[in-house]
Amino acid sequence: MSYSHNRLYVIIPAAGSGSRMHSDKNKLFMEVDGISVIDRTMAAFRRFADEYGVDIEAILVISPDAASTWEEYIKGKSDYKMVKALAKGGATRTESVGNGVRTLKDLHPENKDPVFIHDGARCLIDSDSLGRCFSAICENGIDVCVSGVATKNTIKVVRSHEDKEPVIVDHTPLRSNLYEVQTPQCFKFGTLEEIYDRASRDGIEATDDTALAEILGYEVRIIEGSYSNIKITTPEDIAIAEALLKT
Ligand code: CTP
Ligand code: MG
Repeated sequence: MSYSHNRLYVIIPAAGSGSRMHSDKNKLFMEVDGISVIDRTMAAFRRFADEYGVDIEAILVISPDAASTWEEYIKGKSDYKMVKALAKGGATRTESVGNGVRTLKDLHPENKDPVFIHDGARCLIDSDSLGRCFSAICENGIDVCVSGVATKNTIKVVRSHEDKEPVIVDHTPLRSNLYEVQTPQCFKFGTLEEIYDRASRDGIEATDDTALAEILGYEVRIIEGSYSNIKITTPEDIAIAEALLKT
């Protein structure tokens, strides 16, 4: 396949505390069928690079308290050769990604290639999902997009929890209008820079990078992702990921 660009940058936030995993071990170092979550994520990008002929440079965003553990962990592993810098994680995901964006700007101030943001914890990302996002930015003139899948479940919006338990339903949005979004979340670099500059200046936070873009008035497109691209968040996700690897 040939694209107008043959390079992409990926910022991989890996500086969370994994609180919902309830484990003493960093969830990114936990194993899914004998290979750690973060090693699987890096291998997925290396496979995409090989299969689609794209050069990838990565910025890994890590907790500054664990810098020496990470340096030791990645030393000598070939899939981490694409990591050109370690950036300092912050207290929130938005802060962590913002630091990744600034690190990328320091490395490549004139960058014109697409930038992906991909959770270290989404270790089952496949090449075709990455390829569809790459095409969207490179070939289809899209500035901001996110991998997503149509929601399978009916979702209810509840009233703010306040002191009422069980929570009270406010309304049920039409399921056909709902998508679950994942990462990668992908940007033209200039747009990404602008979004994070404005978010940091105005103190805007979101659990999702494209939500910042929406808040700031950019058009965001959803590109078909994969139901297998789960995020390792709670203990059962390890078993689910292992089952998905067998399908
Ligand atoms: N992340 C980050 N910096 C933060 C918070 C999250 O780099 N301050 C990263 C995580 O390491 C993860 C990704 O963002 O790869 C998605 O976040 P999530 O799955 O929520 O991970 P955690 O925040 O670590 O988990 P939890 O919310 O359960 O504490
Ligand atoms: Mg989190």
